[in-house]
Amino acid sequence: MGVVMGSEHRLGRNLVDDADEIEAEAQELGYVLTPDPDEVSDIGEATGENWRDFPEIATNSLWIIGSRERTGAHVGDYHGNFVPQIPFQAIRRFTRPGEVVLDVFLGSGTSLIEARRQGRHGIGIELIPATAALARGLVASEENPRGTWQEVIVGDSAEPATTEEVRRVLGGRGRDSVQLIVAHPPYHDIIRFSDHPDDLSNAPTLEAFIERFKSVLRATYGLLEDNRFLVVVIGDKYRNREWIPLGFYTMQAAQQVGYRLKSIVVKNMEGNRAKRNLENLWRQRAFRGKYYIFKHEYVLFLEKPGHS
Ligand SMILES: C[S@@+](CC[C@H](N)C(=O)[O-])C[C@H]1O[C@@H](n2cnc3c(N)ncnc32)[C@H](O)[C@@H]1O
Repeated sequence: MGVVMGSEHRLGRNLVDDADEIEAEAQELGYVLTPDPDEVSDIGEATGENWRDFPEIATNSLWIIGSRERTGAHVGDYHGNFVPQIPFQAIRRFTRPGEVVLDVFLGSGTSLIEARRQGRHGIGIELIPATAALARGLVASEENPRGTWQEVIVGDSAEPATTEEVRRVLGGRGRDSVQLIVAHPPYHDIIRFSDHPDDLSNAPTLEAFIERFKSVLRATYGLLEDNRFLVVVIGDKYRNREWIPLGFYTMQAAQQVGYRLKSIVVKNMEGNRAKRNLENLWRQRAFRGKYYIFKHEYVLFLEKPGHS
């Protein structure tokens, strides 16, 4: 550490001067912002050289998303979906056109719609057949500007048989790995997605939920190319007078499986349907219960370390 960006020739004189200033300020604040000299990303289209061409890609850890993207197939009706801006960011930053995105909790298919829109291939796994059918229909209704393919598999993401099915689909397309995994699991039992026993929202205890989430990550780890990213999207819950930090537990689970934590992004939940028009009721409850109202969720970025 300490070498400013480690690559004067790559950045050009002016930027290096700026970087010196940034570095000094960061050190004063106790941060180390310099990347390892040999950590130069070549995944994604935006790099340390051409990044100015990608103003739409976020680089800060606080995402305030004003309103839900609702164009094309992003109708947003599925209870428990995420805003398309999340997969948009992850896909833009950490994949290139023609690469493969795997969503292990597909739901209504938001990430595959986004993959298609951005010219990436995609595979989604969804446990509930009716939900998988909904996703298939929505994805197919999205324009396909680059003629990419998206496939939906019905199955339990924790099951090795499902992993085999993903391998079969990849093999049929002449591939053997994916370049991004998106995991937006149930936030334990906050929303019950079905009465299927393998549904993570039916895990009988918090421990069982984390264990099952870990099994999903273990089952799919081998599908991800080295040096690529897993994105976990999750919120916390509140039960029995206690804040249950599902975000931190799932983050730790991912680290235990072998992933390296690269960023914890905090995203606002302003548009949350359940809470709209109920501000005062929530406020009163917060005072009574001595807690703060959930207004954020996490987008965790984890990297699969390469062999070196
Ligand atoms: C939070 S939702 C994902 C929503 C999605 N991101 C969207 O925008 O529509 C979680 C989904 O995971 C599914 N699910 C739960 N357990 C699963 C499992 N073991 N394997 C695969 N899917 C599962 C649920 O049916 C639900 O549709």
